[in-house]
Amino acid sequence: MGNKEISKKQAQERIDFLRSELNRHNYRYYVLNDPEITDFEYDVMMMELASLEKMYPELATQDSPTVRVGSDIEGKAPGAREFRQYRHRWPMLSLGNTYNIGELQDFDRRVREAAGEKFAYNCELKFDGTAICLSYSRGQLVRALTRGDGTVGDDVTDNVRTISSIPSDIGDVPWDFEIRGEIYMPFASFNALNEERADIGDTPFANPRNAAAGSLKTLDPEEVRRRGLECVLYHIIGDNLPFKYHSEALQWAASRHFPISQYSRLCLDMDEVRQYIEEWDTRRKELPFATDGIVIKVDDLALQARLGYTAKSPRWATAYKFKPEQALTKLLSVDYQVGRTGAVTPVANLDPVSLSGTTVRRASLHNADQMEQLDIHIGDYVYVEKGGEIIPKITGVEVSKRPQDAVRPSFPTLCPDCGSPLVKDESEARHYCTNEACPTRVKGAFLHFISRKAMNINAGDATIDQLYDKGYIKELPDLYRLDMEKLLTLDGWKERSAQNFLDSIAASVRVPFSRVLFALGIRHVGETTARTLTARMRSIEAMEKASKEDFLEVEDIGEVIADSLVDYFADSGHRRIIEELRGFGLQFADNSAAAAVSDRLAGCTVVVSGNFSRPRDEMKALITAHGGRNTSSVSGRTTYLLAGEKAGPEKLAKAEKSGVKIISEEEFYSIINS
Ligand code: IVH
Repeated sequence: MGNKEISKKQAQERIDFLRSELNRHNYRYYVLNDPEITDFEYDVMMMELASLEKMYPELATQDSPTVRVGSDIEGKAPGAREFRQYRHRWPMLSLGNTYNIGELQDFDRRVREAAGEKFAYNCELKFDGTAICLSYSRGQLVRALTRGDGTVGDDVTDNVRTISSIPSDIGDVPWDFEIRGEIYMPFASFNALNEERADIGDTPFANPRNAAAGSLKTLDPEEVRRRGLECVLYHIIGDNLPFKYHSEALQWAASRHFPISQYSRLCLDMDEVRQYIEEWDTRRKELPFATDGIVIKVDDLALQARLGYTAKSPRWATAYKFKPEQALTKLLSVDYQVGRTGAVTPVANLDPVSLSGTTVRRASLHNADQMEQLDIHIGDYVYVEKGGEIIPKITGVEVSKRPQDAVRPSFPTLCPDCGSPLVKDESEARHYCTNEACPTRVKGAFLHFISRKAMNINAGDATIDQLYDKGYIKELPDLYRLDMEKLLTLDGWKERSAQNFLDSIAASVRVPFSRVLFALGIRHVGETTARTLTARMRSIEAMEKASKEDFLEVEDIGEVIADSLVDYFADSGHRRIIEELRGFGLQFADNSAAAAVSDRLAGCTVVVSGNFSRPRDEMKALITAHGGRNTSSVSGRTTYLLAGEKAGPEKLAKAEKSGVKIISEEEFYSIINS
């Protein structure tokens, strides 16, 4: 990391950057289940932050990501179901981790110093899933909580009861206890789930961990049952439990039919630990589920108690993480794919190779800059890795294996699909086809329009391809002009399938405005932005009339989105399409209950913090509906700090200092209903 010579000022800047990036990645990982970077990249940033905080202890803070456990609660994913929350009896902590055997020796040295006598480590696989805490009372499963923020977790008991390996009744046990472990999704279930999602136009999960975490928080327990989740348990806690050793507790749990790993091993010294690591770094590739390292735990519970905990993790255990699995294979050719927004992505075709449970044939090269950085040649042997994204990426080139006649692929200057010139967007380093009539863009726009989270029209790629090729659909409103006669000309279509399709198109006119806005496919306007815009501006007319400044007034809308919105609505073609769609009955205004607007909060700026009886997004929507403005930080200009349970202490202190009125949820309701 080479930051030895860094000044305090530079350190502060870098620390601010790393903290905000790590918080953003925590949110993507724990809440959205949609990471952007690999665990390794995350860990490297975390290590850099920790080393800077060590170098300048005065810059360390209590709320730094190095101290806080990542939360799956904070800032709910848009549309996520609210679960009841409960406080953990014992906080659910994380584990220290390293990629480096030397640091593992340091851990061992610290433990040995504290122990003073011989002791053993229990080495276990580190299962790559999502943590779960099961409470048993008199032998009955009474509650299952997610890790949450480590202190408070989501109650997912109903969902957990659908996992058949978790016993709900273990017979007569006189003591109450908690047993913790990991819920994970085996590769087979993961691959099947993703195939199914791709078929119905849902975004596939990036990896089994995200799939497990996302599934556990699904609305419908029956859906959870279908997804094939598994569980492994590795930690028992309680008051006065009758065990002296961790391994003994696990054996007891196995005797009570809890799912306990069969791959753990007691190791008497670091040589044995190292052997275990080496063995599993290879053998894990044959396992039917994902692992990302091994966990080393002091086996003696009295010694564990003596070693205790830091704020974030136990001192009696640590994790050694495996470097992400890589495969070396030959680059056969590069394709250039045009997406629905016109972005052109280079995709590598590879000699098929097996990697973490799947066969990899294609990998992303992201953009022209990335290709240049890797200095990639056709015929090169390249390293592929699975990162946070669905499609694996190329992380390096084995230059020593480069054939003599290998040539660099050249990035096209014209759209591979329609031949229009490509334009490079400097801010994103991507090339775009700007021709709105480009066939791939048009078909992509239809696929986006009909997708589940947009208009939810029942059809797939093949149908859109046929409709387009036959010339039935050129612009979005054409979908509403389809009839039985046209549909019966499609290959393999019968009256029944055609009628289903027509019914599904007819039903789409009831889809609420925010989803219609999302369906239009305005660049940079995703689901969340569409929802925010709808809550704030309420109708498409308001948006058509809005200036860039008006858009910038809406929370979370910055320059890029505002520019894109203004450009979109300035185009008379787009306005005509909207008019035609409106003519078919689509919703272009928000008439929901929250729109029962008043102006009781007119001119008021409100900051919302903490947990409420309803999702925070709804509280914010209420504020907007009553004429108020949401902002994220407290300042002299804030009218109210609306503080729920566990409101941020810093926000409370700031409000008190600046004389901002702090109101409770009840007080808030009495203001808007007065
Ligand atoms: S022990 C107090 N053992 O990895 C420490 N954790 O990165 C309790 N994990 O929070 C954790 N396999 O969710 C433990 N064999 C194992 C594990 C394991 C996976 C997870 C767990 C933990 C995370 C830390």
